[in-house]
This record gives sequence, structure tokens and C-alpha cells, in this order.
Amino acid sequence: MTQVWTTLAVLDWTAKRFAEAGIGASRLEAQVLLSHVLNCSRTQLYMGFDKPLGEAELGAYRALIKRRLGGECVAYLVGEQELWGLPFYVDKHVLVPRPDTETLIETARGLREDRAAACRVLDLCTGSGAIAISLAKELAAATVVATEVSPEAAAIATKNAERNGVADRVTVRVGDLFVPVVGEQFDLIVANPPYIASAVIPTLAAEVRAEPVIALDGGPDGLVFYDRICAAARAHLVPGGALVVEHGFDQAEAVRARFEAAGFAKVTLVHDLGKNPRVTHGVVGA
Ligand SMILES: C[S@@+](CC[C@H](N)C(=O)[O-])C[C@H]1O[C@@H](n2cnc3c(N)ncnc32)[C@H](O)[C@@H]1O
Repeated sequence: MTQVWTTLAVLDWTAKRFAEAGIGASRLEAQVLLSHVLNCSRTQLYMGFDKPLGEAELGAYRALIKRRLGGECVAYLVGEQELWGLPFYVDKHVLVPRPDTETLIETARGLREDRAAACRVLDLCTGSGAIAISLAKELAAATVVATEVSPEAAAIATKNAERNGVADRVTVRVGDLFVPVVGEQFDLIVANPPYIASAVIPTLAAEVRAEPVIALDGGPDGLVFYDRICAAARAHLVPGGALVVEHGFDQAEAVRARFEAAGFAKVTLVHDLGKNPRVTHGVVGA
């Protein structure tokens, strides 16, 4: 008897195969890939769970499964990743936004007492624009400048600002850190810079190594960007303005030292939901 490949049968088979291959969220990834092929939501998949798939659909799904098993990440395969409840286009030119970064977004939002008040925000190393765009959504009267050294990544950030309806308040500028904002000051500066030590990069999982190396490489000790950002940020903040950075779980002490050496006050460490120290912020005294 030939196997009838219903939605459910296909998902069961794929989830098992992905789990055997060591993919953690095996069922979720199977669902995301199938909903991409069928152009429907994950919930809608289960509404037609006993529906047999057509040959073209099966062919397209098989091709994605093969690429996933070959080490490509789901976000690049479907060209999208959700963060902070918002959809972001992604491709090989940008880091896939991580759920961890929601800790930075939440912290930065919390530092603005009046979320409806006008303010100027700078997002350094914007990549897909996920942080800049999420903050523009949260702070309704904010104008956000996002800087990014990769022109390809900057183009994606601009596209994401349009997609999420905030292109009128989010401007992406190509350039090195603060170079595109010389002489400008902000109420809030945020950054999730590259922070992996160069020597560690070859040891990372294939999926992570498929991301742009300039999105990962934080120099010999992984801290080069914190040196540069802390040293230059004060000149770009108004009195009372805040700097908020994401960092590796084992970099908190080193990052704090850099905030303090640069003269920031109220230096505070924030833990993520997994209780890992992942975000540091501080303010410029009056
Ligand atoms: C870790 S990724 C973060 C992307 C995004 N902010 C996020 O949280 O998903 C770092 C980003 O910094 C960019 N980058 C690297 N060096 C830079 C520099 N000197 N100036 C500005 N951006 C830089 C990379 O191209 C990459 O997009």
C-alpha cells in the first residue's frame, strides 16, 4: 500500500527525522517549513491535518527538509524570523534575531518613563533592524537612527522598517558605529554588537557559522565593540541619556568595567529569563 502523505503524517515523519538529526525544536521547525510551503499559519496546518499534500507541495517541502538537514537554519530557509511579535525578513547578510535580544528591548523600553514622549534613539550594529524597529513600535513618538557597516544588512533593515510600518521614524545609515551620526546626540543608545572572540568562531555550530562573520566577530577577546562603544557613547548622549548593550553571559564584569571607566553612572546588569546576565545599562550624569 502506498503511503498517503497527509499534513499530519508529513509533520510526524519530519519531526522524528529532525529529532534523530539532533535538531532541538524538531516539531516546531517541521511546522514552520510546512506552513511556508503551504503559505498558511502554523495553526491553519492543523485545521487541514488529514488533507493529503499534492506532489508539488511535497517536492518543495522535501527540498527544504534536505537543506535543513544539510545545516541551513529555518529562518534563512523561509526568509523570516519573528522577534518581539514582529516579522523580520532575514537572509545570509544578517544575523538571525535571537529571543535573548528581547531582554535588551524590554530593558531599553523600561528606561523611558513616558513611552509616548518624543525621544531620539540610536541603534548601533542594527543588522536586520530588529531592535530599532521594535523600539520604534514601543515608543510611539521616537525617531530612531540605526547604523550598520554592511550595506546589504542595512538594505534589509530598511525593508523591515517599511514592512513593520515605521519607515517614517526609523532611518538606517551605512557606516562604522558612530561615524554616520557625528555631532548628533540621543536620549537612548542601544546595541547588540558582535561579541564572540575571533578564535571561538571556528568552533561554533555550522548553523551559526553560516551567519555573517562580521555579525559575530568581537575581536581577540570578544570585547572590542564594548571598548569602542563605551568610549564614544557619552559624547552622543544628552545629560540623563542611557546606553544599553547586550553581551555574552560571561562578559558582564568586563562590560561593567568599561561602562564605569567611561564614567557612566547607575551601571546595572539585567538577567534574561534563563537567569543569565545578558544586558548592561548606565546613564550619563547631568
Ligand atoms: C550581533 S549582530 C546584531 C544584529 C541585530 N542588532 C540583532 O540584534 O539581531 C551585529 C551587527 O553589527 C554589524 N557590524 C559589525 N561591525 C560593525 C561596525 N563597525 N559598525 C556598525 N555595524 C557593524 C554586523 O554587520 C551585524 O549586522
